[in-house]
Amino acid sequence: MFVSDSLSVNEKHHLTIGGCDTVDLAEKYGTPLMVFSEDGIRRNCRKFVSSIEENYDGKGLALYASKAFSCLAMYRLCKEEKMGVDVVSGGELYTALKAGFPPEKIFFHGNNKTTDELIYALESGVGRIVADNREELARLSKLAAARSLRPKIHLRVKPGIDAHTHQFIRTGQIDSKFGFALETGEAMLAVKEAIADPNLELVGLHCHIGSQIFDIDPFEHAAEVMLTFMAQIKEETGVELSELNLGGGFGIKYTEQDNPEDFTAYMKRVAVVVKKQCAEKNLSVPFIVIEPGRSIIGAEGITLYTVGSVKEIPGIRTYVSIDGGMTDNPRYILYQSEYEILCPSKADLPKDAVVTVAGKCCESGDLIQENAPIQTVQAGDLLAVLSTGAYNYSMASNYNRVPRPLVLAVRDGKEHIIIQRESYEDLIRNDQ
Ligand code: LLP
Repeated sequence: MFVSDSLSVNEKHHLTIGGCDTVDLAEKYGTPLMVFSEDGIRRNCRKFVSSIEENYDGKGLALYASKAFSCLAMYRLCKEEKMGVDVVSGGELYTALKAGFPPEKIFFHGNNKTTDELIYALESGVGRIVADNREELARLSKLAAARSLRPKIHLRVKPGIDAHTHQFIRTGQIDSKFGFALETGEAMLAVKEAIADPNLELVGLHCHIGSQIFDIDPFEHAAEVMLTFMAQIKEETGVELSELNLGGGFGIKYTEQDNPEDFTAYMKRVAVVVKKQCAEKNLSVPFIVIEPGRSIIGAEGITLYTVGSVKEIPGIRTYVSIDGGMTDNPRYILYQSEYEILCPSKADLPKDAVVTVAGKCCESGDLIQENAPIQTVQAGDLLAVLSTGAYNYSMASNYNRVPRPLVLAVRDGKEHIIIQRESYEDLIRNDQ
């Protein structure tokens, strides 16, 4: 019935997550409130870890793309679940290390890593640095030499695949700020430079074709393109690279209409292509890395708000204003993302109204959804937006000096705080 198995409705008609009544949680902790099903997140992690086991005899690693939602508790959970993590900034790296995450299982990404970030990654001994461009390769080489280090690196390659998704979240095509292009010969040139560089150890390649992708075909295609390139590298340089990172991007359910395949199906089908390509091209099956973010956490998080006013504009629309908005969820403004919204105190009652859910910011575009079907609500009612686990809190801002919400994780029917609500004091912490 819902976007995740972690969600249900109890005998009071209240929405539950991980067995906890969301109405009780909102009463106890206030709103806006984000709640994650820790059991659901762990379930997803385990599915990815076991699909590496099943499809590649364990010769691979599932990384959690921590840009989707980054905090100490999430890195601790990933460590317990035997995942690696992908970080894209010094801040994510710092959080992971503070959580006690093993540095050798951290992969450092980014299209414009600063010198300070490269030094930080080198000195903390991250597992792989994924180099994005030639300037970075040259800079990294110098920084490594100065420290007598020889980091293991991957090169980020644009495989030239235009996966069908929103233009801001597709990344594998030639017109992208990320990585080296295959078509232009740029990628081969970078590979040769990296192989020749005594300060760097090129061990593999990386690609990521986009996010919220439902079709399996583009993933299969990407694997084929990357292995063709690896065979070409072997032919031209004699070097057989031993690792291949195929990125993340598996789509999740936001609304009833979304019907993504279970991500274990992607894993299976891509593995078939990988093995077939390797056999045909006389390559050993590389160590396979994947880096899902959204599919681990997206559908396992919800946001609870309180309705402050219901403003009906006859013949036009009805605005339902809530105590959060673009500051905790900028995805509607950015991508016109669709969400399922409901009133958690009448979760299984028919949705008899169609409303526009507006945030509290001083900005007309601050909307969470337009024309959303929902139960009839009035001021004081709660509202739940589902599938807000990925790229919501992590893209939150303090626009209008709105503090970020409190975040709970629910496990075995019990909740605990994983991020405190920001206070007004927090907001002025760096002001002079
Ligand atoms: N690896 C790389 C190199 C990435 O750039 C990304 C996402 C991932 C892995 C994880 O992709 P996922 O499995 O989560 O789809 N803010 C956008 C999504 C941006 C995705 C950025 N990169 C949104 O809210 O939809």
